[in-house]
Amino acid sequence: MRVFNVAIVGTGFMGPAHTEGLRRLGMNVAGILGSSAEKSRRAAEELGIPRAYGNYSELLADGEIEAVHITSPNRHHYEQASAALRAGKHVHCEKPLAMTSAESGALCDLARGSGLAAGVNYNMRFYPLNWEVRAMIRSGALGRINSIYGSYVQDWLLYPTDYNWRVLSEEGGKLRAVADIGTHWLDLVQFVTGLSVSGVQADLKTVYPTRQRPIGEVETFSAKVEEIEATESIAIETEDSGAALLRFGDGAHGSLWVSQITAGRKNCLRYEIAGSEATVAWNSEQPNELWIGHRNEANRHLLRDPGLVSEDARAHIGYPGGHNEGYDDSFKHSFKSFYDYIAAGDFSAPEPFPTFADGHNEIVLCEAILESHEQGRWVEIG
Ligand SMILES: NC(=O)c1ccc[n+]([C@@H]2O[C@H](COP(=O)([O-])OP(=O)(O)OC[C@H]3O[C@@H](n4cnc5c(N)ncnc54)[C@H](O)[C@@H]3O)[C@@H](O)[C@H]2O)c1
Repeated sequence: MRVFNVAIVGTGFMGPAHTEGLRRLGMNVAGILGSSAEKSRRAAEELGIPRAYGNYSELLADGEIEAVHITSPNRHHYEQASAALRAGKHVHCEKPLAMTSAESGALCDLARGSGLAAGVNYNMRFYPLNWEVRAMIRSGALGRINSIYGSYVQDWLLYPTDYNWRVLSEEGGKLRAVADIGTHWLDLVQFVTGLSVSGVQADLKTVYPTRQRPIGEVETFSAKVEEIEATESIAIETEDSGAALLRFGDGAHGSLWVSQITAGRKNCLRYEIAGSEATVAWNSEQPNELWIGHRNEANRHLLRDPGLVSEDARAHIGYPGGHNEGYDDSFKHSFKSFYDYIAAGDFSAPEPFPTFADGHNEIVLCEAILESHEQGRWVEIG
């Protein structure tokens, strides 16, 4: 693979995860930016990255940097992604792409015709068995899709003493569980089925209208392992959990349940897609297994193995069967599809990775889900 010079923005959970994924592909992670010059310096030292930037302008002025990976909190995405595109850098942005559809729409306009690649890290797509499901649906193995249902549940915000910037609407957006994890599910099921959500009816709940915020910055998931000393009480408007009934364009229907307060479920995305011929079910906590359900023959359990899957799925497998691949591999394959596309140099070709248009679509869905919840009615999409 051609080696690209990449800069990382953000030094929390995702900054090091992107660094590792990029390095596994042989990319040169040349610089990093945190929320202060000191944070950049410390992260650069810990991760062995040569340059620590003092601010974003310094990063953009670095002529060696060809691509920027944005892993800062959501409220910075729009500004940082726009500035990077304007500076002529390819952008790979964490989800959600922006805070509003006005912002994500503007980013799509900027990316279109820029001659630059603009991707969003919906990495769930890059678990190989999701490519297998996509190939099965395309080949007609499931027949007509009747229903698509599932959930994305976690437990890291179970207690009112759990805190992260995501709980604040000004930092993460008006929706939390739906935008943070629900959009992974919505992106994934639309990707594998090729169907688009056309209508939603939602019911959301803020179980804890007050939470205890630690004094000082807290990085994602750290509260589960670190002792918090001083806290202050803050009002919360974003949802802890909720449901959405869904209609898909071609007549399929279904539902999504999201929750960040489900004890014991650490990071669990599940879907079941039922067609007129067969059903498939996948769970991100056992990502190397796919359940295939039949009515007139025995059900099957497919274990990820390059010798047993379609070419599409095989292209996203790095190891033989039984040598389990997981979360970090999904990042590696997400980035590989992004950089392979840039290296091929044909920007008129369809992108094999989730684009800014996909990121925008997710935010349009989030806004429809919020409107439906607030107004207690079905909301049609576009
Ligand atoms: N694809 C996935 O699986 C996945 C998983 C987790 C998070 N995310 C997304 O990644 C993003 C970051 O989430 P996280 O969990 O890593 O959060 P985090 O709080 O752990 O890390 C965010 C980092 O950004 C830094 N930061 C804040 N303002 C900044 C600025 N202006 N410039 C540069 N750095 C700044 C913070 O100091 C912190 O180090 C979010 O958009 C989130 O939705 C995606």
